[in-house]
Amino acid sequence: MRLRPYGEDDRWLTAALEGDPDVMRYLGGPAPLGRVQQVHERRVGAAGGEWYRTILAGPDDAPAGVVAVFGTAWQGEQIPELGIMLLPGLRRRHGLAVGAIRLIVAEVRASGLVPRIHAFIGAANAAAAAVARRVGFVSAGPVDVDYEGVPIRCEHWLLDLGASPAELAG
Ligand SMILES: CC(C)(COP(=O)(O)OP(=O)(O)OC[C@H]1O[C@@H](n2cnc3c(N)ncnc32)[C@H](O)[C@@H]1OP(=O)(O)O)[C@@H](O)C(=O)NCCC(=O)NCCS
Repeated sequence: MRLRPYGEDDRWLTAALEGDPDVMRYLGGPAPLGRVQQVHERRVGAAGGEWYRTILAGPDDAPAGVVAVFGTAWQGEQIPELGIMLLPGLRRRHGLAVGAIRLIVAEVRASGLVPRIHAFIGAANAAAAAVARRVGFVSAGPVDVDYEGVPIRCEHWLLDLGASPAELAG
């Protein structure tokens, strides 16, 4: 498995992820078509300080999902937030999500731009919470997050990038 920068050709991947009711179950539900284009353009046009990566997996190195660290408005400031989505047929496979997050965290840490990463995970999203815990995120408690106008009860997770790489590999 490896990551590459999200690119112009990945619009279909954003459409497949954001349009899927199962992928979007804890993220406010499937996106309308217009939002897919918006999300795609934001990913392609991301400047320094944001990372949108396409996850490539399997013998044919095919796109399996998207992992990102991007700026979010939170309590009056811009914070770096982690997000990950795998195509529905590619879940529960050999730690793909954990591996992809470790790779992007290493990249973000190496940039020196970000002291810690936030994640907001739907309260019932057990798979995402398990993945966050495994890569070293620590829960900072429950919060209500507005996701595209839909209020979602979430748990707020934090990963301090001062943690040693050995901790993240555990
Ligand atoms: C979140 C996501 C990337 C996790 O990837 P995944 O391939 O499903 O997860 P894995 O198979 O690697 O499983 C990770 C852990 O979750 C557990 N798990 C997986 N599905 C689960 C479920 N439905 N209920 C409870 N635990 C579950 C696994 O047992 C594993 O636990 P372990 O680390 O203790 O062994 C994937 O489910 C996804 O794309 N979800 C839709 C988008 C989303 O919600 N993203 C998160 C937004 S922050």
